[in-house]
Amino acid sequence: MSRIVYVNGEFVPEEEAKVSIFDRGFLMADGVYEVTSVLGGKLVDYDGHLTRLERSLRELDMPEPEGMDALLEIHRELIKRNKLEEGGVYLQITRGPADRDFLYPENPKPTLVLFTMAMNLSKSPKAAKGLRVIAIDDLRWGRRDIKTVQLLYPSMGKMMAKAAGVDDAWMVEDGFVTEGTSNNAYIVTQDGTIVTRHLGTEILHGITRAAVLRFAHEAQMKVEERPFTLAEAQAAQEAFITSATTFVTPVVEMDGVPLGDGKPGPVARRLREIYLDEARKVAV
Ligand code: PDD
Repeated sequence: MSRIVYVNGEFVPEEEAKVSIFDRGFLMADGVYEVTSVLGGKLVDYDGHLTRLERSLRELDMPEPEGMDALLEIHRELIKRNKLEEGGVYLQITRGPADRDFLYPENPKPTLVLFTMAMNLSKSPKAAKGLRVIAIDDLRWGRRDIKTVQLLYPSMGKMMAKAAGVDDAWMVEDGFVTEGTSNNAYIVTQDGTIVTRHLGTEILHGITRAAVLRFAHEAQMKVEERPFTLAEAQAAQEAFITSATTFVTPVVEMDGVPLGDGKPGPVARRLREIYLDEARKVAV
């Protein structure tokens, strides 16, 4: 079934959607994106994603595209036209078409594209089973706090995980875990403390991360935002990841070492439940 997608002001069947070959998103990876999850036909944490999108644009001196003031309506219209119950809405803004030049064009006309992705998020079999993860070097650029479309290294990381017969990879830099290829990374120490890397330019400031840490504090769980090593992860009682498309998903094996009893841990399971309940409540 063909989807209806949004391109620069128009809702069109996906086969008819077109972007210029001179688009800087295509030539230079000069673009930013967001993925907002959809539960029960509604958008989860929409305001958080919009705020991060506006920040990404500012950090790259990229002007807002036409249609920016109607983004929520565009999201909703796409969900309606595609009858999306569960999954995500992908949004991308690029600096738009311009003759190939490393310098930004003087009067860019940014490209705005959105499409829906149907996915089974709330009852994902991976969440029930837990993920097996390997460690890889973090070879990405230094501004990972900007959500750009330069996803080649994360793609390579997922391929390395696939080749190793596991589900995903956590990236390590200077001896410390930064994050997963497309998610934030957490461990739960033997004394029950949730540890996740502090915010900075080394990781993406996950919208799910912010919500989950808030819920953890509200549930009186102990949280430390600091770097942790691979050895600490392997000695952890449990571990998990967060992202818009995985919510909270347990990790049960780290670089060949089972965590705890090798099954999804209680902290991850509880946070996933709380997150799903709260996400449904605040969805718009
Ligand atoms: N990825 N870290 C990285 C590197 C990510 O790519 C993502 C999201 C996250 C989690 O952020 P959030 O909770 O706001 O989704 C952390 C999206 C889902 C993706 O690329 O598909």
